[in-house]
Amino acid sequence: MGKINAVITGVGGYVPDYVLTNEELSRMVDTTDEWIMTRVGIKERHILKDKSLGASFLGTKAVEELVKKTKVNPLDVEAVICATSTSDYVFPATAALIANNAGLKNAFAFDVQAACTGFLVALTNATAFIESGRYKKIVVVACEKMSYITDYTDRSTCPLFGDGSGAVLVEATTENIGIIDSVLQSNGAGEPHLKMRAGGSACPASHETVDKKWHTVYQEGQAVFKHAVTDMSDVSVAIMERNQLTADDLAWFIPHQANLRIIDAVAHRMNVGKEKIKINIEKYGNTSAVSIPLCLWEMDNERILHKGDKIVISAFGAGFTWGAMYIIWGYDSK
Ligand code: UT7
Repeated sequence: MGKINAVITGVGGYVPDYVLTNEELSRMVDTTDEWIMTRVGIKERHILKDKSLGASFLGTKAVEELVKKTKVNPLDVEAVICATSTSDYVFPATAALIANNAGLKNAFAFDVQAACTGFLVALTNATAFIESGRYKKIVVVACEKMSYITDYTDRSTCPLFGDGSGAVLVEATTENIGIIDSVLQSNGAGEPHLKMRAGGSACPASHETVDKKWHTVYQEGQAVFKHAVTDMSDVSVAIMERNQLTADDLAWFIPHQANLRIIDAVAHRMNVGKEKIKINIEKYGNTSAVSIPLCLWEMDNERILHKGDKIVISAFGAGFTWGAMYIIWGYDSK
């Protein structure tokens, strides 16, 4: 028998209805549409307003749509891997809640914490499970309720983030398609620059941590920016070189959507033209682990993904974590 590859066979997604515009934000903090558009490239983001709903609500919506689109029997799905930094609880895993809500009753489920790189890490895990021959159908879901960890009095972070979810079905194939290669890296020395300072075992929640607003995203923007550009560029170029890919070979480059200027700088290093870069940061903001599957979801819905398309995806996030993946797309969107 030929080598078993892992291939994406469907994409689901979801964004909540409420749209928070730059105009509304500029009434909340000292900012302007002009600053946010020129420095970051975001016009609006979707927000889950209902305080009683966690990230699993978003993830469940994406998985339900995925099941409907692919017509997979939910009982045939063997594993659910969820990438999130905004899990419903510290435990149990959000993946378990999603699997139960969406009727994937036979799947074992666990979460992956790799911040904005989470989808790449979860998809690499799913790929290894499938290539091993032990699993045939795995759902990888990313869901983030970033709004609950955003301080809407801090103008340096509150324009950045949005809520949403995306999910893919990953199946076994012996065709030479699917997830061909990935490079994943991390460096814990990045910790001070991008983190939620309290709520974990190193700094448990207390009145003091709540008063100091330490349960929201803390980011030293410029330091993170520099690492994001360098590390995402290095890893994206590396995956192209080791797979003998030129920019001409690529149908699409799909980057994590954190800042339009980061995307432009990385694409420049890769020598990829604007027409091949998927960008939707303007509509959704930075949805952390969700940004790449949300791109795939839109592209699938627009029917612009075709079997055989060569795609590079790449991401950078807290940790620091970063990575790139080379995919040969497995089906014509319909
Ligand atoms: O998702 C994965 C990891 N995250 C990232 O990849 C994000 C990386 N970082 C960035 O994208 C950018 O650093 C930010 C978008 C976060 C910030 O942009 P920046 O160009 O690095 O701005 P800055 O922090 O250097 O601030 C420049 C100026 C400052 O004013 P002064 O000191 O020059 O007078 C800020 O106070 O802009 C000011 N500023 C704002 N002004 C209007 C900061 N936020 C705002 C705002 N509106 N919302």
